[in-house]
Amino acid sequence: MEKRIIQITDTTMRDGEQTPGVRLGVHQKVEFARQLERLGVDVIEAGFPASSPGDFQAVEAVARAVSSCTVQALCRAMRGDIDKARQALADAKKPCIHIFLASSPLHLQYKLKITEEEALAAVADTVAYAKQFCAQVQFSPEDATRSQFSFLCRMIQTALDSGADIINIPDTVGYAAPEEFAGLIRRLHEAVPALSGALCSVHCHDDLGLAVANSLAAIGAGAGRVECTVNGLGERAGNAALEEIVMALHVRQDILGARTNIRTRELVRTSRMAASLTAVAVPPGKAIVGQNAFSHESGIHQHGVLENRETYEIMQPADIGLDKNMLILGKLSGRHAFSQRLELLGYALDDKGIDAAFHRFKEIADKKTSVTDEDIGAIVNEYLDGLHGKYWLESFQIQSGNHMKAMALLSLRDGDMVFTEAAPGDGPVNAAFNAIDRTIGRDDIVLESYEIRAVTEGTDALGEAKVKISAAGASFTGRGVSTDIIKASIKAYINAVNKCVAAGSDQEE
Ligand code: KIV
Ligand code: ZN
Repeated sequence: MEKRIIQITDTTMRDGEQTPGVRLGVHQKVEFARQLERLGVDVIEAGFPASSPGDFQAVEAVARAVSSCTVQALCRAMRGDIDKARQALADAKKPCIHIFLASSPLHLQYKLKITEEEALAAVADTVAYAKQFCAQVQFSPEDATRSQFSFLCRMIQTALDSGADIINIPDTVGYAAPEEFAGLIRRLHEAVPALSGALCSVHCHDDLGLAVANSLAAIGAGAGRVECTVNGLGERAGNAALEEIVMALHVRQDILGARTNIRTRELVRTSRMAASLTAVAVPPGKAIVGQNAFSHESGIHQHGVLENRETYEIMQPADIGLDKNMLILGKLSGRHAFSQRLELLGYALDDKGIDAAFHRFKEIADKKTSVTDEDIGAIVNEYLDGLHGKYWLESFQIQSGNHMKAMALLSLRDGDMVFTEAAPGDGPVNAAFNAIDRTIGRDDIVLESYEIRAVTEGTDALGEAKVKISAAGASFTGRGVSTDIIKASIKAYINAVNKCVAAGSDQEE
């Protein structure tokens, strides 16, 4: 029997970016969008243009960078948001404006403070307005699963009457259970017959760990599109994980009767890129893309897998692009081999980017016997992070010992200027962070967390430091890599500070 094709909307760069501490720059979004295009997603939700100038630029750049996917931009039900979105999407081959407005009594009464009739009027006005400029308009009744059914139907009917092409049903707070959510999708199709003439999409959050199950249940009940994020990134507990939905549909086509256009062999590469770009690591036990997803620890399992993989494996590692036989690069590897490897890892840097990354690669290869793909991912991401940086590390000196207070002397570059400060601290890393705060004249930055790990194995491993800082009510993560862990830590802190400074100027604009 011919299988239904379920469309995939990736919202990693919009809802996924709402993961606490995550902030992607324009160049990072463009790299990731190109990888999503290779992965074969149908729609890329690139951002919320009215939310900040940075998001506007990112949507505009993604719209220019991809051609086969629809590029979607989020808007509140406000004409001003729609104007921003249509400007940002002006160069998209296939643009889509996504308007959302809450339909639940809780949101209407306490968040929006508007009546049901006012909400319906806003939907009618903004969907019709967006439709004048954009061939594809999607409408989402936010918090649909906690809305009164009759009002939800009225809102959906209003959006359809005003020209919406796609109705997206969000389980905004991850409250639904699979049977119930499937029932809602079925009942909506019965109560609003025009929904069957449009495309029904779903958008599930994972607060109860049910986002993927709810998305699959909705597909069974007639949804033709799902919104999800790579690695399940997203606000609070995250969104439905793209790789889990795709592989569930792939492996269990027999019972689910549907498939996607996704090139499953790109899944691991996409997951690793998302983890690198966002600095949010994939938990080892994560389904499909976790480090342990294909590891067999117990002797009985190992024996079974050696005899026949199918004893304990329901999919082949190669199906998701988990190939382990790539050549390791070393200090004798040339620019050509390096740029080929970048391509294989999914990065499409321009010549300037390749030169910069190759330069770093050579520095690192001089200190390490072999440079792995994880090292290269870290090098590229450090380069992409740095493209937006206001401050750069010029030099540092640290003194520390068991009978003295640590002291750091550090110089930062800001354009043509170099600023130097010294500061004491409880240990070398703390002293260095204090010196950075002094250099940039900030005393409001709080270090929320600090982590250091070896990117690869061995005594010459590349160390990756991650920090999370908070300032002015927002948090920012930063990452730095070096064979010297103090240097990696300093770079990570500067990276986070640069994001914090960029967010500050975004807000001011
Ligand atoms: O979770 C949600 O309701 C959303 C909407 C904007 C679709 O992200
Ligand atoms: Zn959401």
